[in-house]
Amino acid sequence: MKKILLAALALAPLFAQESPIPQIVKNDGRFALFVDGAPYLMLGAQVHNSSAWPAMLPKVWSAMKDLSVNTVEIPIYWEQFEPRPGQYDYAVMDTLLREARQHQLRLVLLWFGTWKNGSQHYMPQWMKLQPDKYPRIADRNGRAVDSPSPYAEATLEADKKAFAALMRHLKETDPHRTVIMVQVENEPGTWGAVRDYSPAAQKLFEALVPREILDAMGVKEPGNWTQAFGAEAEVCFHAWSVARYVGQVAAAGKKIYPLPLYANAALRDPLKPGTPGSYESGGPTDNVLAIWKAAAPALDVLAPDIYQDNPAAYLRVLELYRRDDNPLFVPETAGAPNARFLFSALGMGAIGFAPFGMDGNEPAANEPWAMNNRLLLPMQREVARLNFEGKLRAVAEEKGKLTETLVFTGWTAAVSYGVTLNHPPQGNAQPMGRALVAQTKDNEFLVTGYFCRVDFRTPAKQRQFLAVEEGSFEQGVFKFRRIWNGDETDWGLNFGAEPVVLRVKLGTY
Ligand code: DGJ
Repeated sequence: MKKILLAALALAPLFAQESPIPQIVKNDGRFALFVDGAPYLMLGAQVHNSSAWPAMLPKVWSAMKDLSVNTVEIPIYWEQFEPRPGQYDYAVMDTLLREARQHQLRLVLLWFGTWKNGSQHYMPQWMKLQPDKYPRIADRNGRAVDSPSPYAEATLEADKKAFAALMRHLKETDPHRTVIMVQVENEPGTWGAVRDYSPAAQKLFEALVPREILDAMGVKEPGNWTQAFGAEAEVCFHAWSVARYVGQVAAAGKKIYPLPLYANAALRDPLKPGTPGSYESGGPTDNVLAIWKAAAPALDVLAPDIYQDNPAAYLRVLELYRRDDNPLFVPETAGAPNARFLFSALGMGAIGFAPFGMDGNEPAANEPWAMNNRLLLPMQREVARLNFEGKLRAVAEEKGKLTETLVFTGWTAAVSYGVTLNHPPQGNAQPMGRALVAQTKDNEFLVTGYFCRVDFRTPAKQRQFLAVEEGSFEQGVFKFRRIWNGDETDWGLNFGAEPVVLRVKLGTY
């Protein structure tokens, strides 16, 4: 009997219940990505465009280990996936899933389907060779633009079927939920024309704008696109056309397997947007997010690919994509100084963050991103949960802003940059400070960060530190290492280049 029981226990994992399907949950105006039934902070990285081939994967996995990520964003190429019409090749996808599991990583799959950066370069050859059946859009002179038509029925049908096949295969082969989200297309839209000028498109452009689009954009009077949107008419029209298409592809997949789905945007400059045509037209840029929401409800997230160098523009993008109807998720970013903005994103409730093209770099190039992850990975579940509960604040240093105040119940936390002893803050030579503070009980906080000082205030009384415990998270449990006191607390709590987590108990006198 005992033997049978032991054998059954040994086999148990094989028959373990499926984990719940990942989903995005909203509560009290805040979002969380639930993975295995609990909030999960996606600390990710994206591979280069041509790295999702089995021969390239050893380099991918070793880069991801150096980066200490928990999730890898990796493409599935339509040209590989459907080599002949209706015949799907799951071999590469199966390899990705198997090897990701071996490396204890989650995946976000990027469906390089009809659109890749506005073009149709990932369509299978058999489609590329039939341009009449799978057409491009036309510019004002009737010349083909290197961008697929969002009105092409045959392309849409083929994409819907292929994407549905992908999702069906995931449903059947991924009870572990290795794949936690799927990106539908890649930076859909068009470079080189604001919209399609073919006769069919022209007819639609002159027709009345659908009521739900007018409502979404807050336009009262019915009318055609020009009447409704004036100078933005063409970009709004193209956004509706592309969103409707992507929304149908997303819905075809979601019907089969309801994983969180998102579309990513090549942004326009949020501070100096420029006129339509100066940025990729038709994608979920900040001016047309409401159109995308209305026309593509199967997408859970519209996500910004942030390649801005200007910190003010970077932060503005985060604000623009954090909406009551949209969780903040940064699927692509770049530029080592921008690594600190993971903390700004967390301060705005972000569910995930991933720098682009992280395989094949020298380890030093990955370091600014890796140090974020080394700090946050062991506590990612706590960070995600505390953020979802509204108890977490996080910020990153901006040049010239030497201090910031984070507001909690009964307390404020003062974050300052470039501070020694009791001298006033100077700011770091390069703005690289970042801080995360979460209120875990009335008078208790988790505090962490790099290159900053954190101290606490409460109205009418003076604060005293009752206990400042340094430790680290191991599998969700805070492991005490030592107590900070004396020089380590007399001027506030100082964070340098080492990953340090503090559990702070405050009192007053
Ligand atoms: C944004 C795209 O989404 C990525 O696939 C990649 O092409 C980068 N731009 C640039 O390298």
